[in-house]
Amino acid sequence: MPVTAYDLTGRTAFVTGAASGIGRSSAVLFARAGATVHCADRDEQGLHATTDLIKQEGGTAHAHPLDVSDRAQLTAAIATAARPPGADAGTGTGVGGLDIMAAIAGVMHSSPVLETRDEDLDRVFAINFKGILYACQEAARTMIANGTRGSIVTMASGAVDTGGPGLLCYGVAKAAVVQLTKTLATEVGPHGIRVNAVAPGWIRTPMTTRHDDRAQAHTESLMTRMAPLGRVGEPDEIAHAVLHLASDAASFTTGQILRPNGGVAMPW
Ligand SMILES: NC(=O)c1ccc[n+]([C@@H]2O[C@H](COP(=O)([O-])OP(=O)(O)OC[C@H]3O[C@@H](n4cnc5c(N)ncnc54)[C@H](O)[C@@H]3O)[C@@H](O)[C@H]2O)c1
Repeated sequence: MPVTAYDLTGRTAFVTGAASGIGRSSAVLFARAGATVHCADRDEQGLHATTDLIKQEGGTAHAHPLDVSDRAQLTAAIATAARPPGADAGTGTGVGGLDIMAAIAGVMHSSPVLETRDEDLDRVFAINFKGILYACQEAARTMIANGTRGSIVTMASGAVDTGGPGLLCYGVAKAAVVQLTKTLATEVGPHGIRVNAVAPGWIRTPMTTRHDDRAQAHTESLMTRMAPLGRVGEPDEIAHAVLHLASDAASFTTGQILRPNGGVAMPW
């Protein structure tokens, strides 16, 4: 009998972008809820910092260094994650499979429409859309093959609601993630698989703080004035939204976009 709706004991979760920010927070929360967490990222150092953190807390985590825009790497890692424990040694008695996919890895890119180059669009689309598409496809195939009524959570962005200068490449890819989420939800719903997106507002992570102190200060003051909650968000606040959608607490929720954004946008 689960202690809370967020009890993921016995579940296997795969998290992309787990080396930093929202992905790291999500991986840690999944582990605290009892899941075995497979962490994927191209930042090997950050990835091991996340798995070390989970293990120090007594959780179970595995690291998969990979580039999410490479379908073959992602497919191989998901297959490894879904393998029954001990399968390699021929001693496996566990059930294996994959219960949760959180496709979170992404990059920021800003350039005005009139200065955007084909290579910018291709690079951002390859990571922010195709990287999520590949993860969703492999997760859904694995869940269907195993008869798992799993949960897939994708990472969109408040950029799809608000727009903004420079956001063409990033916003196009995130809008495509929203469409993927809704389309896949309709297609795999009959298998009992749920697919939802999280569309965060401005969150304090390396993505938003590493580049430009002035831009960060500007955003902080903008959020203070514009957001009903009067501040930027923290990675854990988004990870809790991811955890909710991944868990049985959201058992009747699919094809939805959850918007932890401090109230900046309130679409119907
Ligand atoms: N921070 C925000 O304000 C915000 C707002 C809305 C949406 N998001 C989305 O949340 C997600 C996480 O962003 P974050 O803010 O935690 O940023 P972050 O930079 O802290 O984390 C992103 C992670 O993705 C990894 N990554 C990037 N490209 C990769 C690739 N090709 N293969 C494997 N890993 C790759 C990075 O190494 C990094 O660990 C992204 O999809 C981002 O677009 C962030």
